[in-house]
This record gives sequence, C-alpha cells and structure tokens, in this order.
Amino acid sequence: MHRARTTLRLRAPRLRQGLASSAASPQPTPAPIPQTSELLSLSSSYLLPVYARPPFVLSHGQGSHVWDTAGKRYLDFSAGIAVNALGHADRGVVETIAAQSAKLLHTSNVYHNEWAPRLAELLVSLTQRDGGLGFAPCTAPAPNAKVFFSNSGTEANEGALKVARMVGKVRASDGSKTRIACFADAFHGRSMGALSVTPNPKYQQPFTPLIPGVDVGTLNDAEGLQKLITEETCAVIAEPVQGEGGVNTANPEWLALLRARCDEVGAVLIYDEIQCGLYRTGTLWAHSHLPVECHPDIVTMAKPLANGYPIGAVLMRDAVAGNMTAGTHGTTFGGSPLACAVGHHVLSRISSPESVAQVAATGTYLTARLAQLPARFPQKLEDTVRGRGLIRGLGFHDPAHPARVVDLARERGVFVLTAGKNVIRLVPSLNVGTAEVDEAVDCLAGCIADL
Ligand SMILES: Cc1ncc(COP(=O)(O)O)c(C=O)c1O
Repeated sequence: MHRARTTLRLRAPRLRQGLASSAASPQPTPAPIPQTSELLSLSSSYLLPVYARPPFVLSHGQGSHVWDTAGKRYLDFSAGIAVNALGHADRGVVETIAAQSAKLLHTSNVYHNEWAPRLAELLVSLTQRDGGLGFAPCTAPAPNAKVFFSNSGTEANEGALKVARMVGKVRASDGSKTRIACFADAFHGRSMGALSVTPNPKYQQPFTPLIPGVDVGTLNDAEGLQKLITEETCAVIAEPVQGEGGVNTANPEWLALLRARCDEVGAVLIYDEIQCGLYRTGTLWAHSHLPVECHPDIVTMAKPLANGYPIGAVLMRDAVAGNMTAGTHGTTFGGSPLACAVGHHVLSRISSPESVAQVAATGTYLTARLAQLPARFPQKLEDTVRGRGLIRGLGFHDPAHPARVVDLARERGVFVLTAGKNVIRLVPSLNVGTAEVDEAVDCLAGCIADL
C-alpha cells in the first residue's frame, strides 16, 4: 500500500510534464522505462493473475523482432497470437494511427464516421474479388453483404451468434429453433456465449452453467452431422482451420456436407476465421479457395485486421443480415473511425498482389523447411506438418514436449506458441522473410534435438 502511494507520488510530476509538453508538441518524449523488476512486481501486485507469463517485460519491436527492457532481442514467430500481420512498429500503421487520432478518434455509433463504411466496403469487395461467403472469385462488386464492427474476436462471435438466433426466431416463430452446434477443440472466445461454444473443459468447467442448447460435434465427422444439426439448430459455428485447438484443418468434403446439412434444416453457418482468415492461409479467407458449396453465411474476423489495434468484425450475407434492425445489436467502441482507418490501411496492404505473392512464397518456403523436421525427429514428431500458409503446427508424440520447446525457444530468442494437447503453433507476421523462417526453424530443430 505504502509502496503504491510512493510510486504515484513519483510519477505525478512526470505525467503532468508529459501532458503539458503534448499541448505544445505533437511528439512528447516518452517517459524513461522503469526497471524490469519494478514492472514485474507491479504486475504481480495489481494485475489479475489469469496469465502465466515469463519474467521479462517487452518494451518495443520492429518488424518480426521485439526487445525486452533488458535489451534482449526475440524473433516473434507468434505475432501477438496471429495479430501483427505487418509486424511491429510498421511505419504506415504508425502514421495512420497518428493522423486519424489527431483528426477523430471516437464518435460512438450514434453518428456516421468516414472509415467504418469504407472498411466495410473493402471487406465485401475483397470477398467478392477473392471468393468467400457464397461468392465465387471475381464476382462483380455489389453491396450484397453487410458488416458489423466489434472490438475483439470474442465479440465478433457473440454478434454472429445473435444474428443466427434472430434468423432462427424468424424461421421458426414458435421459438423452437435456438440450438447452436459447435465442434470439439474449437476456440471461439471467453465471454459466456463464445465460451459456451468452446468445448474445452479447462476453459468451461469453472464457469458453468453456460448458455443452454449447445451441441458438440467432431471436426471432419461426416456421419455425425445428421444427428448434430437438426430442425432446432439455428447456428453452426466452426473454424475452417482450428488454431488454438491444434491447427486442425476441416476437409473440403466435410465442409460441403456441413453446408448442405445447414441448408437442409435452415441453420446459419458461421465460420470463425479470427485466427486463420485475412490471408494467413494464403487466401483472403481460409475457405476462399473452396467451391461456394462449402461457404458460410457469416464470417467472423479480428486479430490482424488492424495489426494489433483492437477490432473485430462480422461479415454476413444479406439473406441473414436482413433481420437485424436498429437497436437489435450495438457497441460503444466498435467501428470507431480510428480502428476502421487502421483496418482499412492494413487490409489494403495485405490484400495487395505483392503481399499475397509474398505470403505464398514464404508459406511455400516454410512448408519445405518444416517438412524436414518429422524425418529428422521421427521419435518425437508426427509425420505430417499441420496447417497451411503461415498457420502451421508441429504435432509431438509426447504431450509434455510442446511447452518445453516453447520455453527453450524463448530462452534462445524465438517466440512460438503451443496449441491443442500436443502441438507447437507458428503464426508469424505475414511479411516475415525467409531469413527469419530459417532462424525460427533452425532454433526449433535445436530445441527438439535437445529435448
Ligand atoms: C479462432 C478464434 N476465435 C475467437 C478468438 C477470440 O478472439 P479475442 O481474443 O480477440 O476475443 C480467438 C482468439 O485466439 C481465436 O483464435
């Protein structure tokens, strides 16, 4: 208590100074970085302990690298969990944030702003250009899909589930169409609705009872679809490539059966592309390259859309959007001019032919480098590398190994993530280079050898 008061007293003049100088100059000098140990102690004293973090503090980044307050450099092959598509401290993102925040940061959704409709138009026209949501690639741009902006992936899924519930109420006026189907190993978020369709006991059990009427199926289980999805189902939510659950890819044949079953019973099909979407697999959506018979009614997105500035979005066909009217859903912050200006900047760049070609080339290079590892470590690794493009997983025979590899790699200066029960997940920035791929894969190979 006493220490907290001292800290406040020490900080106050510095804060006042910063505010005063910012009035005179648009670029106030940042306060000096306090010692790492002080920050770690503040964290443990004041932050809700829901994360187990390693004992260092990140201070800044550039491209695919970040540095801690002690000056150690790390290659960030996690990209803030598939978020920093353009890497850290990207000049264009920095300039967009600076320019827009100096102009108009927030207005609420009581008023129109310049950037929400522009970003919505870009999302719809790119989906029509590249394919997805029922549009074959190169469909002529037309305003026949709608977007709702949120602040996170979880909120995007909540919005999608609400749209589907609304459709269910309209399709069955007796209120019998309210059930939601999801799949084992899915991850859709931590709020009560999204958590209810994230069937992982580790996340769900402490918080039961969850929302009722949720049915859980198995990814790629064709036979189970009939029983799972019924006339009472209003929504089916699935990740075309499960990220957190272990980089598990849904088969195109199964997705076609899933779509057909949803059509049969009038259920809304939602693809959560929060982790796998926005060019991470090489195409706009992970389902863009598939026939329209595999496409969903709604796509949710978030993570890379504004390169780390919080944003989420629900993109839906007009056929399901039509039931949502003024007042049926909303948010204070979602769709702000700042978030949408940054989103527009990032999406314009990651959808450019140069960026798409670079993701394809780097993805191919990463595939070739990773493919060497199972042959080199057959006792430790599964035969096949999981995922596609720049969302990849290495499956281990021993479920204890991935966490050890994450720790070892971090000690050696590379960030990677675990996924599912036995997987190392790689989700680097979309503009990562081949030299960085080499550095990451060489480091991983060394860690696996040393297990
Ligand atoms: C597929 C998927 N859906 C939803 C979420 C939740 O997104 P957020 O953490 O932005 O709420 C995540 C986050 O990891 C995710 O990977």
